[in-house]
Parts: sequence; C-alpha cells; structure tokens
Amino acid sequence: MDNTLFGVKDLDIYVVASIIIVFGIAEVIAGYLHRSKRTKSDWIQEVGGFLVLSQLIKPAIVIAVFFIGKTLLPDYLYVFGDWSLWMMLPFYLLIDDVLQYWYHRSAHEYEWLWKYHRPHHQAEEMGFLVSYRNAAFYYMIMPNIWWVGIVVFLGGAKGVALGLILKQLVIIGSHSTIKWDSFFYKHKFLNPVITLLERIIITPAFHHAHHGKSMADNISDPNGNYGNMFSLWDQLFGTAKYTRQFPTDYGLVNDPKDKWTASYFYPVVKSDKSGSEIAADYKRENTTTLEPAKVELEPNTTYLFCQCGYSKNQPFCDGSHQGSKFKPMPFEVKRKTKARLCNCKHSKTSPFCDDSHLKL
Ligand code: FES
Repeated sequence: MDNTLFGVKDLDIYVVASIIIVFGIAEVIAGYLHRSKRTKSDWIQEVGGFLVLSQLIKPAIVIAVFFIGKTLLPDYLYVFGDWSLWMMLPFYLLIDDVLQYWYHRSAHEYEWLWKYHRPHHQAEEMGFLVSYRNAAFYYMIMPNIWWVGIVVFLGGAKGVALGLILKQLVIIGSHSTIKWDSFFYKHKFLNPVITLLERIIITPAFHHAHHGKSMADNISDPNGNYGNMFSLWDQLFGTAKYTRQFPTDYGLVNDPKDKWTASYFYPVVKSDKSGSEIAADYKRENTTTLEPAKVELEPNTTYLFCQCGYSKNQPFCDGSHQGSKFKPMPFEVKRKTKARLCNCKHSKTSPFCDDSHLKL
C-alpha cells in the first residue's frame, strides 16, 4: 500500500493536518473563539468525533476491507496498481462524491438515518470542526469510508491520498466561518470566477445555507444543497439553491439539547430529554386533521406551510419533517389576510384549503 505522493511519503496526512491548522488559526484570529456560543458538549462532540473518526473508525474500516477482500477476492488486490494518478483520481473522487451526495440526502429523507446525522445540524454556529460532527454509527456505515478502503485495496492509494487532500480543502472550507467566497461576491469583476467555481465545487455560502435553521429567511435550505465536494449532483438532481448569502441562524428549529453521549453513541445511548427524536419512547405522530386551520396572515412575512403532517405547530412547519422526503412550502401574502390553511395535506391549492378534506 504505497501512498507516496509526488515523492513524499504520507504527504496527504501532512497537507490535511496543515489545512486544519490554517483554518483553525484563521478562525481564531477572526474572533471565532471569542464570540463562540459553543458549549463543552459541542467541543467534545467535534474534537472527539474528529479524533475517533481519523484514528479509529477510518483505519478499522480499511483493515476490514482488506481482510474481506483478501479472503473473498484475493485476485483483485492491487489489480489497478498500474493506473496513473490522473486516471485514479477522477475514478476515486467522482464515485466518492456521488455516494456521499446520496448518503447525505438519504440521511435527511429517512428517519432511521437522520438520527445519526442530526448532531451535525445541532451545531448552532459554523466552524471547520462541524465537518466531523455526526454520531459514530453514521461514520461506521458511511459508503465513502468503505470506498476509500476498496480503492486502496484495488491499488489506488495515491489517487485516494490526493483526493482526500482536495476533498478536505473543500469540505473544511465550506463549513468554516472563514467565508472565502464573500470576497468574490463583493467585487463585480470577479463574478464570472465565482459563477464558475460555485457550479463546480461547494462554496461556504452554498453549504452554510444547508445548515441554516429555517427556509423562512429565504436563504437557508436544510433540505437541499447536499453536496460534499462537487455541486454537480445538486444541480443534476434538483436540490441546488444559490443565494450567495449566509444565514444568521444555524441549528435545529426544536433542539432538545441532548447530552453529547446520546448524540454520539445513539442507538447504544438514548436521550433522556422528553420529545427528543433519539429518546427511547420517541414516536413521530401524524398531526393532520380534517378541519382547515383558520389563521390571520401578515404581509412581508415568509410562512412555512407544513407538508409532512408531523408538525406540532400545524398548519406551520416546526422542523419535524427532517427524516422524511417532505419539506415545507414557503409562502407570503400581499396584504393582511384571514385564510383557511389546509390541515389534511390533500389540498390541490396548498397551502390554502380547497375542501379536499370533505372527500376523505
Ligand atoms: S414540519 Fe416541516 S414540513 Fe411538516
């Protein structure tokens, strides 16, 4: 297993460590620590999560892939060893990235997987360390980490090493509070550069929007912008939202503030907070009714109409749709209006009631 890159052994480890140190120092200088709202539990999850992932989970998965590969498919060991770095790099990166897009998207669309990804969205502020904040089990079954092991087994260690450097640069950069893309938005003559860049890689504005608390700010889209390194998949599969702006509120709408032990070790450790999605007795309930909701709506306000039927604040969204394929419908009214909003979720004129509930 030779990961010597450009004549330097373990170059990927040195470069990735340098990227982390540079972003860490830049965030500190930019006042990140001074203004940080992070609790002790946040730090444990992020720093601890990073150490366990890099020192335990990733190496263990690569060892497991080699063990399984040598036992079941010994002829495939280093079978692509004669591929050039420039063939192996796109092979590794493109498959890695599309796997990550669908894994990440599934983590927002399937309730069981959402529970392992949820800690990532409990962060109330951004920072490069947020990149490593997920439950341990989320990483254990992450297809990308297994893909790293498979490509190395097939003889692509150099491609993986260079790919990991590029990936970490983009991922750390897109989670960081150092919003490097803002510089490009401010200067009109740089517009073509950032227009091209944001169509290829994930920029901080693009990814921060994914971490924003609610679509009501017309910037955030917690159920979109799923990409990891390339924005290609979001554009291709219709989940891209470009605003070039940054949310002011990050995190979950209704965060029960689980202890870090529950967030990280779920399902082995469950939350003791009532109503938490990772509490032992949690059950998602249908809150639709066969009566429309009579509400008074104000102009110049973005309302989020619940489409999933799980909100405890019907007919409006309270974030309970996470872990389902639904997302809220933003809407506004032109003048102060008394309205009947659909509460059965069958109206064809949503968010407004069209009496479909009478036919149910
Ligand atoms: S709670 Fe958000 S769409 Fe239902």
